[in-house]
Amino acid sequence: MFGALKEYLNVVVALLVEIVLNTLLLLFSPLVYLYSRWGGYGNRMKRRTPLPAVPRSVFITGASSGVGEALAYEYCKRAQKAGVKDLHLFLTGRNVERLQTVCEQCRALGAAAVEPVSVDVTDAAGMREAIVKANAQKRLELVIANAGVSASNTALHDKPKQGALGYERSQYILDVNVYGALYTLWPALDCMTADGKGGQLVINASIAGYFAGPMFLSYSASKAAARFYGEGLRTAMAPLGIRVNTVLLGFVESRMTAYIKEKQGGLPFGKGAEEAAQALASRIARDEGIIEYPFWPFGLLGQVYNALPPLVREAIWNRGVGTVVAKALAKARRRQERQQRAPAGKEAEQRAVDGREDTANEAAVNLEQKYVYRTLEQWM
Ligand SMILES: NC(=O)c1ccc[n+]([C@@H]2O[C@H](COP(=O)([O-])OP(=O)(O)OC[C@H]3O[C@@H](n4cnc5c(N)ncnc54)[C@H](OP(=O)(O)O)[C@@H]3O)[C@@H](O)[C@H]2O)c1
Repeated sequence: MFGALKEYLNVVVALLVEIVLNTLLLLFSPLVYLYSRWGGYGNRMKRRTPLPAVPRSVFITGASSGVGEALAYEYCKRAQKAGVKDLHLFLTGRNVERLQTVCEQCRALGAAAVEPVSVDVTDAAGMREAIVKANAQKRLELVIANAGVSASNTALHDKPKQGALGYERSQYILDVNVYGALYTLWPALDCMTADGKGGQLVINASIAGYFAGPMFLSYSASKAAARFYGEGLRTAMAPLGIRVNTVLLGFVESRMTAYIKEKQGGLPFGKGAEEAAQALASRIARDEGIIEYPFWPFGLLGQVYNALPPLVREAIWNRGVGTVVAKALAKARRRQERQQRAPAGKEAEQRAVDGREDTANEAAVNLEQKYVYRTLEQWM
């Protein structure tokens, strides 16, 4: 009884403190803004290594489609507009065909040199080699760790299943989104610190990093990790004149979101990739630490949600998202019941439709739970 009362009082005090602090912040917001843009040791050091108005050498991972592709075109257009004649682009991806098409388009948009680099971001040695080589060709001014995957565009038919809930999807998403970003940033940092001339690093995280989503567990966890790494790295690197910008995107049209767009008949508050790239390039040029785009509504919701005491967050989550989760699992259970009533041949037919043979591991799973497990597996 006393424990519960204490917990409740903690929440009330936390909310009151938050209201007071936010009111003070609002009153002093012009000063806070000016200090964050111009004040402090980090900003002083950065002013000693000013950035060019338009970068002359840009390395982008995941440039074979979506946001990365649109950013590559945007930097070409900016260079053309500013009369920059020596823009070098290093564009990476795994799909060579798509990558070549993007490179051709960039050449047509006036880039002086465009190098397609076919490398998997989870290959640490391969990434280091690619970045060091690119830097030797033309000193890198801007490196964008953009490549990423989500559960909806992660096909893992070739990977052995790792347990009842298929943790191989989790592993893969975290590998690409967290380690893939680090394997891009680390060698880039080595190059930029070697000659002391500074540079700029961008991490494409996601608004999903604000929300611990039960239906996109690894994605939101991976993007939260990327967000925190980016925020911390910005402060750590400022004295060396290296800018670090963390991008938190809401919905943007790309191959990653094509599935959602098709299923929902549109992207909620979504933006086109070209529009997003324009906004991102402008805000990267202004060296904004955290770039939420679009801000409305998920950026704002993310900020408010994260400022709430954990108990309140949990209450909101349980009520809203909890209902969606429960409904999805109930649907999976109904499907299981239908399956059990259906003739035996239907089971094999369904497996073919699922496009995945049961492994020994999966067979060991309680068959009663099969569809529930499959649903949960999609969320890992
Ligand atoms: N679109 C959105 O609404 C949204 C929202 C929030 C955050 N983001 C983030 O924005 C970034 C770009 O996503 P997008 O929307 O443009 O999706 P996309 O069209 O699917 O592009 C993803 C890019 O990442 C590359 N990639 C994926 N896995 C890779 C790997 N293991 N090694 C090397 N490259 C790899 C892909 O190249 P290949 O296909 O050639 O391998 C592709 O070029 C991601 O980090 C994503 O999480 C997007």
